[in-house]
Amino acid sequence: MQPPSRPFLEARIRVPPGWEETLLSLLQDEGLGAAAAEWSFPAGALEGESLGGRIPTVTAWLEAGEEPRLRRLLEGLAAAAGWRAGDWCLRTRFRPPEDWSRTWRRRWRPFRCAGFAVLPPGLDPSSVALRAEDRPLLLAEGSAFGTGGHVSTRLALRALREQAREDARSPLLDLGTGSGILAVAAALLGAERVLGVDPDPHSPPQACATARGNGVGDRCFFWRGTLESAGGRWRRVLANLHSDLLVEAAPFLGGLVEAGGWLFTGGVLDRKEEAVRSALAAAGFEPLQIRRGGRWLGLAWKRQVLGTT
Ligand SMILES: C[S@@+](CC[C@H](N)C(=O)[O-])C[C@H]1O[C@@H](n2cnc3c(N)ncnc32)[C@H](O)[C@@H]1O
Repeated sequence: MQPPSRPFLEARIRVPPGWEETLLSLLQDEGLGAAAAEWSFPAGALEGESLGGRIPTVTAWLEAGEEPRLRRLLEGLAAAAGWRAGDWCLRTRFRPPEDWSRTWRRRWRPFRCAGFAVLPPGLDPSSVALRAEDRPLLLAEGSAFGTGGHVSTRLALRALREQAREDARSPLLDLGTGSGILAVAAALLGAERVLGVDPDPHSPPQACATARGNGVGDRCFFWRGTLESAGGRWRRVLANLHSDLLVEAAPFLGGLVEAGGWLFTGGVLDRKEEAVRSALAAAGFEPLQIRRGGRWLGLAWKRQVLGTT
């Protein structure tokens, strides 16, 4: 992100829960500056683990003349999504020239999820009031997906934590690893080897930095590619991707997970639940657990053992 040389517009957009990521991707598609989603939590230095009760706000930093275009985009989204007046609001103000990435870092607050205290890049863990049971997970700076702020990541972290109570050591494959947050969490929980893949060119260096920063660089390996570039048979696979990709890739996932093995699929929107469920069932998976956060779902599966169906 380049620091703007002129005053810029800061837009604070309140949206109905579950819509923040849709808005972020629309802003990106429209080339409307840089943006980040934030959530209001109950008070506390480290945010609690609850997935409910959060009020999403998207902050976008735009060129000064872009407000009318932003407003049109929001009105179009509100009409298409059926939001009522009062479901959303837009406030803007001009800001002096500033480094946007510094602004983003300043806004990023540590929070707790699934036993982890997720800490923003550059934060000294000793400067935060950690509890004895907190397991710090320090993020590395970069643009790859996965700060833990998005509910799909948090659902995946919770599923992983629970799965690790049964088997924390088996190697794990992380499809769509992004920032490497889930892969590194798996290594911190005890995985002896973790592989992560993502087509985003920013992902492997960022994920490697995340792993090194948490002292698990020797057990985590990342490469750039789509999920089809992964091979082998795995006891544990994380696939926090998105609904359509999961439906399309279900037969391939069936070949990656060993019989009796565990799969997590995330990034599933509520209206795609049935499509994802039937694709995964047809690929030989039986559902273990479903978690919901806003409009997002995370599903844990067990690969059926041949002969038991
Ligand atoms: C929802 S994000 C998950 C990131 C991170 N694992 C997390 O849980 O926060 C989905 C990731 O999948 C990646 N992705 C998109 N298409 C993919 C594909 N065909 N194969 C593998 N990963 C893909 C994206 O680049 C993105 O980083």
